[in-house]
Amino acid sequence: MAKTIRKYLIAGNWKMNKTGSEGADLIREINLGLGKQTDVGVVVCPPFTALESSAKALEDSNVQLGAQNMHPKQEGAYTGEISAVMLRSLFCTHVILGHSERREYFNESDSFINEKVVAALDSSLKPIFCVGETLEQREAEQTFEVVKTQLVEGLKGVSSEAADNLIVAYEPVWAIGTGKTATPEMAQEVHKMIRDELSSILGEGAAAKIRILYGGSMKPENASELLDQADIDGGLIGGAALSAKPFVELVKIAASK
Ligand code: PGA
Repeated sequence: MAKTIRKYLIAGNWKMNKTGSEGADLIREINLGLGKQTDVGVVVCPPFTALESSAKALEDSNVQLGAQNMHPKQEGAYTGEISAVMLRSLFCTHVILGHSERREYFNESDSFINEKVVAALDSSLKPIFCVGETLEQREAEQTFEVVKTQLVEGLKGVSSEAADNLIVAYEPVWAIGTGKTATPEMAQEVHKMIRDELSSILGEGAAAKIRILYGGSMKPENASELLDQADIDGGLIGGAALSAKPFVELVKIAASK
């Protein structure tokens, strides 16, 4: 059930794992496993310190490179931060923004994330913009409200023309790294709501083109049913992206759809 206008995307979020040389080794294995396939978009997002060696390992590969965060300003007195220009100079094409770990552990607000989304798009980086509710919020039946606010606030000032470069990831916080996955139906329900909301923010045409990835304990064992859902266009993969075998397998499952 390939989605007619949206190509599947499988993105690996390595989080704070892998040194430069470990990252390059992993990419070499991924390249071997995938060959030159182009049916599915594939992105790997190593930590900043592994971007340069990863970019080298990705020469002649169809796999693209993403970062896990960036600062909205291009340069200046922001100790410890990295800008879009710096990421572009290392051949990054994508950047994860608003991941729940950034929101929770580093107190990133919707408005700060919004600045980053706008800055990334202005610099021709494709944001993988993450939204999702906590367990507490789901149990209080606030999922739609929470996700809707994250979308509305996070996408302020984004034009419908930018939609071609925007990727959204729905990651229920309670499913990240816990082994608990949302059932395909639960995930689809939120993905559909996200597409409807994108439609009211950016217009129907734009919303139909935006890929909405699912993230949260996605692995080869549960990917097929999730990817079969009408509004699930790929995955943002944490744990299963840290070794080549399951990651390559996930790409192959998406390619078989
Ligand atoms: P997980 O992480 O696949 O390990 O649950 C996903 C993510 O946080 O992006």
